[in-house]
Amino acid sequence: MRIAVIHGPNLNMLGRREPSIYGQTTLAQIDERLEQLAGELDVELEFRQANAEGEIIDYIHEAGARVAGYLINAAGFTHTSVALLDALLAVDRPYVEVHLSNPAGRERFRHRSLLAPYARGVVQGFGADSYELGLRGLVRIVCAGDNDQAAPRRR
Ligand code: DQA
Repeated sequence: MRIAVIHGPNLNMLGRREPSIYGQTTLAQIDERLEQLAGELDVELEFRQANAEGEIIDYIHEAGARVAGYLINAAGFTHTSVALLDALLAVDRPYVEVHLSNPAGRERFRHRSLLAPYARGVVQGFGADSYELGLRGLVRIVCAGDNDQAAPRRR
């Protein structure tokens, strides 16, 4: 089973970017930790980081045929991108939204996530651990094959 891990804009700067908010861990270290966990959970991962919205959307479309779900930190696009949400809905695969920080405790414009209402779950505020917790949750949902338990609100 294959899962796509998507990192949105500016996450390539992790480690150097506002470390008091996002920590010292680099994106490469996060991916390495996820690879290790994936081995334990017996799933395969593929990773994509992009700063451009269209690139992420194209990747979601393209990966849809081969992955069972998405682990996504859409970063700033979380709060703005209807197009990104539409791409995730179009491929019709479960996704879990993750954030290093806890956007709910930050500026008002970060409080709303356009992706959250349709996510199978959201993990935020645990730094790099958010990704690992999110992957565990996503794999459970995908492996159980029973999506009704945590079915998201639909239109
Ligand atoms: C973030 C939170 C977003 O509000 C912000 O735009 C990011 C990172 C996080 O992981 O905490 O770029 O998604």
